[in-house]
Amino acid sequence: MITVPVALGDRSYHVLVGVGARHRLLEVLPVAAARAAVVTQEGIGVAIDAGIEQRTFMMGEGEAAKDLETVEELCRQFSRWGLTRGDVVVAVGGGVVTDTAGFAAAVYHRGVRWVAVPTTLLGQVDAAIGGKTGVNLPEGKNLVGAFWQPAAVLCDTDALATLPPGEMAKYHFLGGEALVDCNLDERVARCVAIKADVVAGDEREGGRRAVLNYGHTLGHALETAGHYDLRHGEAVAIGLVFAAVLAERLGRIDQERVAEHRRIVGGYDLPMNLPPDADTQQLVELMGRDKKAVQGLTFVLDGPAGVEPVTGVPPADVEAALKEVST
Ligand SMILES: NC(=O)c1ccc[n+]([C@@H]2O[C@H](COP(=O)([O-])OP(=O)(O)OC[C@H]3O[C@@H](n4cnc5c(N)ncnc54)[C@H](O)[C@@H]3O)[C@@H](O)[C@H]2O)c1
Repeated sequence: MITVPVALGDRSYHVLVGVGARHRLLEVLPVAAARAAVVTQEGIGVAIDAGIEQRTFMMGEGEAAKDLETVEELCRQFSRWGLTRGDVVVAVGGGVVTDTAGFAAAVYHRGVRWVAVPTTLLGQVDAAIGGKTGVNLPEGKNLVGAFWQPAAVLCDTDALATLPPGEMAKYHFLGGEALVDCNLDERVARCVAIKADVVAGDEREGGRRAVLNYGHTLGHALETAGHYDLRHGEAVAIGLVFAAVLAERLGRIDQERVAEHRRIVGGYDLPMNLPPDADTQQLVELMGRDKKAVQGLTFVLDGPAGVEPVTGVPPADVEAALKEVST
């Protein structure tokens, strides 16, 4: 079992990575938790024995279920069960479950403790680490949320669903060059450590934490457009290649580095080009609406000093880069 610390002062916690990590719940549960509200989805099938009185609450599937209605429904069920601040919420699932259940935990009774048991690769290396919880609005993804750190994260590599590992590809460019030589447990732990390190330096996304959005500006636009039939990991993968092409157009990186992006993303068997029916005009518009766009078009781009946010990117370069990644 590998333990990765997330150093956040009095909100610090541990991430346990390895086969059987989910059975360590009792050890990491907040002191004196009396009952565990387990939030999960049908079909996940990852059983949890909290070792204390527990009840399972099901939520719906996909981005559509990651909404305020689900949060209300969960909170009402918690209330009917009599959940109190002395209890704990346990989120068992992918990013959709951890984001939604984490947010329900953040707002129910003004905040109850929660433990994340992520069951997708994206959940383990990204969504469950760092305390960003929240849900979608019809107007866009993740528009309502709270920073609410879990009490612990249990990454059981035995409970993983096979899904496109776009988030893992991202870490290769955020200091994870050695990832290619690692086995699965080490790879998850290293990605967690990179994310933990970034989060520890910038809990509330004032600065450095924005690098974690590498590949996400286009990724989110593709998801918001809604009709491209891409999984989150696939949308991020295309976003990574697009970001490299854009960085090259802006003279920040050379062609060899763009080729490296394609090599890594392709190595995970992820898509590298826009879907054939992509509407580039609409994508540019959606990227301008991204909540990170403070001054004009903002992207997280690779460069001589590593990956960093870049503001004021000319829309013409964005369009040209989109054309370059069109099929
Ligand atoms: N909070 C953050 O910092 C953060 C970071 C990145 C992404 N996210 C969010 O994560 C979400 C995407 O998460 P995801 O890719 O894990 O998708 P997801 O949660 O929708 O899971 C994908 C599918 O896999 C199923 N599944 C999960 N675990 C399973 C298992 N062990 N066996 C069988 N099926 C299983 C789920 O039921 C679902 O159908 C997005 O909403 C994104 O915004 C959040």
